[in-house]
Amino acid sequence: MRKQKRNRTGFSHKPRREQPADALVEVTIERILPGGAGLAHADGRTLLVELAAPGDRAFVRIKRVQGRVAFASIAEIISPSPVRVTPLCPYFGLCGGCDFQQLSYEAQLAAKVEIIRDCLRRIAQIEFTGEIPITASPNIWQYRSRAQWQHDPQKKHLGYFERASHRVCDVAACPVLVPSLQETLESLRGQMNESLLPEEATEIQAVAGADGASLAPPVPGHPTREVSRRIGKHHYRFSAEGFFQINHELLEPLIAAAVSDARGETAIDLYCGVGLFTLPLAHRFTRVLGVEANAAAISYARRNLEGALLDNAVFEINRVGDWLAENSERLAPVDFVLLDPPRAGAEDGAIEGILALQPRHISYVSCDPATLARDLKILAARGYRLDSIAAFDMFPQTHHVETVAHLKTE
Ligand SMILES: C[S@@+](CC[C@H](N)C(=O)[O-])C[C@H]1O[C@@H](n2cnc3c(N)ncnc32)[C@H](O)[C@@H]1O
Repeated sequence: MRKQKRNRTGFSHKPRREQPADALVEVTIERILPGGAGLAHADGRTLLVELAAPGDRAFVRIKRVQGRVAFASIAEIISPSPVRVTPLCPYFGLCGGCDFQQLSYEAQLAAKVEIIRDCLRRIAQIEFTGEIPITASPNIWQYRSRAQWQHDPQKKHLGYFERASHRVCDVAACPVLVPSLQETLESLRGQMNESLLPEEATEIQAVAGADGASLAPPVPGHPTREVSRRIGKHHYRFSAEGFFQINHELLEPLIAAAVSDARGETAIDLYCGVGLFTLPLAHRFTRVLGVEANAAAISYARRNLEGALLDNAVFEINRVGDWLAENSERLAPVDFVLLDPPRAGAEDGAIEGILALQPRHISYVSCDPATLARDLKILAARGYRLDSIAAFDMFPQTHHVETVAHLKTE
């Protein structure tokens, strides 16, 4: 096979249309963008380079071109960034789970703050000049208490999807899992090797509490059982059937930041899950309403409230958009709205519904700075000022970041 000749001059001496899709281009990574890719420029084209570090000088291979944007991967590092480190995990690069292991932890934190600021500026069109503090994770490995494992019974593979693929990357050990989930993964692998893992269990949700793991669907020896975890003064019960946050060591500061100094008559907790924020809010407000679409989560939320000897919160099983459409006008004005939607952000109509509640103070907890910024843009245009914004590194070794934004009426 003929060895491909490297284009050491990059795009600059070739007309763009002649650039073969797999040509090598020499670039310098400028910074990390939302989504986690490194930004580079060559021949008037923007390159998004995966698994890069800011300051890397590298030959990159273009994998796909879309308009003026080319998607690339590093073929050879010419001179590494000073913040580049050797990834710990042998599956890094193949597994779709982590995309920041090439960065020192300080550089991961800096990139996440930059990602949030970039989304505020470009998507929300908010020039936030204040500081965006980021709280580091106490554990940067073995922190992950929730996982979604993929199982390919034909190939006998168990792990995560490979990057940008639906092939299952067979992962024997995952260094970001808490030890009890690593043990569970090993136990499932043993069952798979003996053909005891049900073939229909192709995707397995796993969560860990202080008292072990819960799996959905259940597999032999690993039921969908109730587990629990104490966060501050509250004891939360949950299972693999509903959501509970990934990084338990950061939950006390996350709750403190989300609830902040809020007090008053009525608080609304949208996308409340098993009541992580509802319980602390119930100590500060006369009444709290929690809304969540997952019935299993709401049943735990009710038991968690009872366990905390609180009786001033009410939970509704409903989609947030539908619930707001039915109830906002009746309840307005309220003192405080906390929302913690999934990665897609508030669903259609939800921001309008929140505006109809006329809250004095909104606390937006988000795991995606881009959808957060999209929603903040609407709130800012309707008279809400971004009072503060803080980040929490709930997901070390990945580009993901948790953000808490407080908005108040002008
Ligand atoms: C990011 S989690 C937050 C849960 C909770 N606040 C916590 O911190 O544990 C988002 C929650 O929204 C729920 N959810 C997703 N879409 C929803 C919708 N359209 N309406 C209501 N709840 C929804 C999910 O079931 C999940 O519990």
